[in-house]
Amino acid sequence: MENADKLRLGVNIDHVATLRNARGGIYPDPVRAAQLAETAGVDGITAHLREDRRHIIDGDIDALMATLRVPLNFEMAATAEMQGIALRHKPHAVCLVPEKREERTTEGGLEVHREQNRLTDYIGPLREAGCRVSLFIAADPAQIEAAHRVGAEVIELHTGGYCDAHAEGQFDARDAELASLREMATFAHGLGLEVHAGHGLSYDTVAPIAALPEVKELNIGHFLIGEAVFRGLGPAIEEMRRQMDAARAG
Ligand code: PXP
Repeated sequence: MENADKLRLGVNIDHVATLRNARGGIYPDPVRAAQLAETAGVDGITAHLREDRRHIIDGDIDALMATLRVPLNFEMAATAEMQGIALRHKPHAVCLVPEKREERTTEGGLEVHREQNRLTDYIGPLREAGCRVSLFIAADPAQIEAAHRVGAEVIELHTGGYCDAHAEGQFDARDAELASLREMATFAHGLGLEVHAGHGLSYDTVAPIAALPEVKELNIGHFLIGEAVFRGLGPAIEEMRRQMDAARAG
């Protein structure tokens, strides 16, 4: 039986597609990576269909929907085009992220507070189609309250600032980011939102986030795909799972 308290791990396979697209061919195949991740015991697969299709392409989403046994978390910008694609596929979850064409990766959280009316209208059809709607946001009470008001069931807290501060050796800033993530996870949970977290997590940074009791799911991509070069994808994921479980167990 599924343990409701288990911290779920979603693996983001975008960067397998990044590597494939660097040569414009068919290798490496992100769908095969998703299947390996399933075998390694992940709880979900995350894929971000960007407006410019720089990594995942439409055919990958078709293939993932046709072959995955675990849920697909479909990351997308809140545009009409993406809403149409999500409504056609009806993935288990849709995570709305901000997207700027020129950015290297998703840099900040979604601006929910200033876009409440638009997002309420946008989310409604996705929920009616049975998708669990998540908003990728900063650990900011105004954004969390707005996420609750617009009808999201889930928020994903952006851990990028925490991970960057760690990587730069700015440990006071890192600890401040962590304190804010901890406080905002509790706040969001109190509003009835399910709390996920992700962005930039690695073996060096995952434990304190995995230990937050309100966090139900982590979504991790870039580090795991990079680590797979050295260990293989299955072992890289299994080690992440081990570290998450150890942190959760205290
Ligand atoms: N969660 C969300 C909403 C994301 O947009 C991303 C990728 O940008 C991730 C998690 C995974 O981040 P990373 O690849 O840095 O692990």
